[in-house]
Amino acid sequence: MRKLKLLLLVLVTLALALGLTVHRHDQTARLDHGAADGPLELTGTPLERGRYLAAAADCMACHTGAGAEDYSGGVAFDLPIGTIYSSNLTADQETGIGAWSEDEFVDAVRAGVAPGGRHLYPAHPYTSYAGLARNDVLAIRAYLMSLPAVRREVPATTLVWPFSQRRLIGLWNTFYQPAVGYRAQADHDLAWNRGAYLANALGHCGECHTPRNLAYAPAPRHTYQGAITRGWKAYDITPKGLAHWRAGDLDRYLATGHAPGHGSTVGPMKEVVLYSTAQLTPDDRAALVDYLLAGRTGEVVAQPAPQSVANAQSLGGSLYAGACAGCHALTPTSTAPAYADLTGASTVRDPEGTNLLKVLAEGSPHGMGTDMAMPAFGQGYSDAERAALANYVLAQWGGLPPALTPKDAQAAAR
Ligand code: HEC
Ligand code: HEC
Ligand code: HEC
Repeated sequence: MRKLKLLLLVLVTLALALGLTVHRHDQTARLDHGAADGPLELTGTPLERGRYLAAAADCMACHTGAGAEDYSGGVAFDLPIGTIYSSNLTADQETGIGAWSEDEFVDAVRAGVAPGGRHLYPAHPYTSYAGLARNDVLAIRAYLMSLPAVRREVPATTLVWPFSQRRLIGLWNTFYQPAVGYRAQADHDLAWNRGAYLANALGHCGECHTPRNLAYAPAPRHTYQGAITRGWKAYDITPKGLAHWRAGDLDRYLATGHAPGHGSTVGPMKEVVLYSTAQLTPDDRAALVDYLLAGRTGEVVAQPAPQSVANAQSLGGSLYAGACAGCHALTPTSTAPAYADLTGASTVRDPEGTNLLKVLAEGSPHGMGTDMAMPAFGQGYSDAERAALANYVLAQWGGLPPALTPKDAQAAAR
């Protein structure tokens, strides 16, 4: 919220300074578009490749609404400044992108510029997709065009002035949009380049895991150091942040949404795993893991188990025993079903309790690898009760003193 207000300030200042010049920042005019082909070793028919790349890029997560046809758009992105709706990517001539040329599609996906010079909001992650190779984008297009055309008019995006002025985004792009196209880094081997491509371009991990600067652009020197996304904390996934993860555990987490000693994924990351990283070939996922952990030295040491400071007689303690212990273990030394094992999870060791309060409020629907789903406690439980529960969990599994307030619980439930 604060950052968005600052962005508003920055944009208005820029706009005034430049007299609202229509700045046609023509990405295609930049000469070098990189290599036509990306570093992945793709097999199968062209359509299979397109389907694989669309999964690796997780186009589905944002372009398919709940209960709607695949890629028919209309997902709402609620911001304090209004709502942006994702587009219909099916082959329908009028409401989809069936009438678009190859170049028009490539420019929209990588440069954020739709036909007629209409600038897309960076809610479509073109700042990451900029690094995609042209032929990979075209394979995704071929796959999308092979799916049933769905006639669906998505609601019009409603942003307050000046954000409603799409050309301001053109201005923003001149400062913050990287050059488009795939360029291998010659000082690294192919496997490293593959991992970098999967993480930075296709997987757009930085869209959530890299903090943004005052102008809402990814802060260049803080890549993957952790950030808040839609109220959830996307943790530090630099080699330092992942210091306690063995490569095999990270691979398992990205493949199944759970790794022993690291808990289960919940919130937006669960969709990433479900639609994207779980769909990668074992080789590609290994390349992604090696890239994330590259440069890490020394033995991987497990985190020491924290000393519990929990009081079972507290409000949180008695609520936990009644509402949670049936699925999760009563104490860290008793056993729980794998997916409900809280031991070692970043979420129960974060003193701010961000994702803990969030998962308590919203639950975690559609369990992966388990029929058991985490219910939502947002209704039925008061803010004070959820704060007490969270404090108890942090004390028991994180060794942390109670610090969360009903106000924190309320903020997380919005
Ligand atoms: C994080 C969410 C997100 C992801 C992931 C995402 N998009 Fe988008 N996309 C959007 C939103 C939101 C818009 C609408 C932006 C606007 O109105 O300015 C959009 C717009 C587009 C458009 C412009 C369509 C039009 O009619 O204007 C195209 C093309 C597109 N996306 C393709 C893709 C493809 C292909 C992928 C995967 C490689 C993808 N998107 C992944 C959120 C996303
Ligand atoms: C019906 C079984 C069930 C109940 C009841 C339940 N949970 Fe969960 N919980 C789960 C499952 C399963 C997961 C793993 C999430 C997934 O796979 O989607 C989970 C995830 C979590 C997480 C995130 C774990 C991580 O690794 O990051 C926390 C924290 C949590 N639950 C706390 C609680 C608390 C506190 C209560 C009681 C108020 C509770 N749960 C009640 C099944 C349950
Ligand atoms: C849509 C936002 C989003 C995207 C995109 C995203 N993440 Fe996440 N990620 C999160 C959030 C939020 C969490 C914390 C939730 C949780 O622990 O389940 C998380 C947690 C993680 C964790 C667990 C860290 C820990 O300490 O427990 C790993 C590892 C991870 N992400 C890796 C990745 C990788 C690799 C990519 C790119 C392929 C990626 N993420 C893309 C939002 C995202």
